Amino acid sequence: MAKAKVLYYCTECGNETPKWQGRCTSCGAWNTLVEHIEKPVAAGRAKSAPVGFSRTPQKLSQIDGDDEIRFSTGMGELDRVLGGGAVAGSLVLVGGAPGIGKSTLLLQICKSLCNGRKVLYVSGEESEKQLKMRAQRIGTQSEELYVLSETRLSDILEATETVKPDILIVDSVQTLYREENESAPGSVSQVKDCTMALMQLSKTEGITVFVVGHINKDGAIAGPKVLEHMVDCVLYFEGDPTSSYRLLRAAKNRFGSTNEIGVFEMADCGLVEVPNPSQMLLEGRPEGASGTCVACVMEGTRPVLAEVQALVSKTSFNVPRRTADGFDFNRAALLLAVAEKRCGMKLSAFDAYINVIGGLRLDEPGADLPVILAIASSYRDSVIPSELVAIGEVGLTGEIRSVSNMNQRLSEVARLGFKSCIIPRNGAERLEIPEGLTVYRVRNLQEAIATAM
Ligand code: TYD
Ligand code: MG
Repeated sequence: MAKAKVLYYCTECGNETPKWQGRCTSCGAWNTLVEHIEKPVAAGRAKSAPVGFSRTPQKLSQIDGDDEIRFSTGMGELDRVLGGGAVAGSLVLVGGAPGIGKSTLLLQICKSLCNGRKVLYVSGEESEKQLKMRAQRIGTQSEELYVLSETRLSDILEATETVKPDILIVDSVQTLYREENESAPGSVSQVKDCTMALMQLSKTEGITVFVVGHINKDGAIAGPKVLEHMVDCVLYFEGDPTSSYRLLRAAKNRFGSTNEIGVFEMADCGLVEVPNPSQMLLEGRPEGASGTCVACVMEGTRPVLAEVQALVSKTSFNVPRRTADGFDFNRAALLLAVAEKRCGMKLSAFDAYINVIGGLRLDEPGADLPVILAIASSYRDSVIPSELVAIGEVGLTGEIRSVSNMNQRLSEVARLGFKSCIIPRNGAERLEIPEGLTVYRVRNLQEAIATAM
């Protein structure tokens, strides 16, 4: 007989080791290793094959592909992030800081999910009465919505057997526990065990499962390594606590792209979709100030406009300070070096702070040029016209390189009422310039700066 295996898990990062240590070798946290006894699993095949899984190899060409397995959640922004709707029999993990609106989002989609489907909403955090109160507040009233306040996994699985839902929502994975596992709810081994069981449920019964996971202070779902590879889709719900806007993005998606973002606003009656994020991101722009430039980046399939701000001020340190919020720090350092070398700005004697407004992360090459222009504008204290947008990747020699989807970006720029746009000279041969928009095609940084200021 196989022996029970003793393992130690780090409760911070999920790292596994065979030996106890005072300090986790993976994340460096002290006193976070907990013991976990792994029970031997009986060898042999499981009796029931998951739904849609077959035991024998089949020819791809002979598999029926037109089964409608995607369905809409009733929220266009969520469907977009999921890759065009939820996939039946998949497990989606929704992560986010406490209070960001995960429970609200999931209870809200129940409204339209219940159309022709049975939904079971299990909460380990709120009582049935509290759920009722929240549902009334956000207007989710449906005959086919079942709610349950429970944290014991076996009871949840039992309830699933009785109700036989098409969709199961579990809020949150950190409150669940499996009795056979002796560690506390929320520990990595419990979270892993419970997620595994829910994953199995979704695959064997064909139930679509949404699981809420809180993230710890470092921004990772407790035991991120343990959970991310197990589930089909990981969504993160983010947002500035001081603003009512919320961004939903996919960190992993087995059935779609991970580039799409969904934008919501938290209102009194729940979350409201923001189909037009550029408008929101450009809200409250300062007039006639130096150090700001508007960028246009592709977020998945849609172009989004955002404001980049830079503050360049004389340093009082030996090594100048640099920070970048919403932009890659190393990329910012590189762009500062290019600006210094190619445009003669003495940036090594200046601190530089870069900030993208609205909580968006610009990690696309097209954002290079607006970042440098914002830096140059602050350095020279000269204003960039507020109706100008800049698009382009910056190379190490200061050349402006072409980026993709130029026509789509230009039409978004024009739609939002901007009058001019700086774009790379190369690329986009068949450019369709929208009416009322002046396009300046530049070869290098010097030309771009001369055009903008
Ligand atoms: P919640 O969904 O409970 O967050 P999570 O499950 O991610 O912890 O959202 C809680 C916050 O949302 C709370 O600060 C109040 C706010 N809220 C509204 O502004 N309007 C609403 O209609 C609801 C239900 C919540
Ligand atoms: Mg909640």
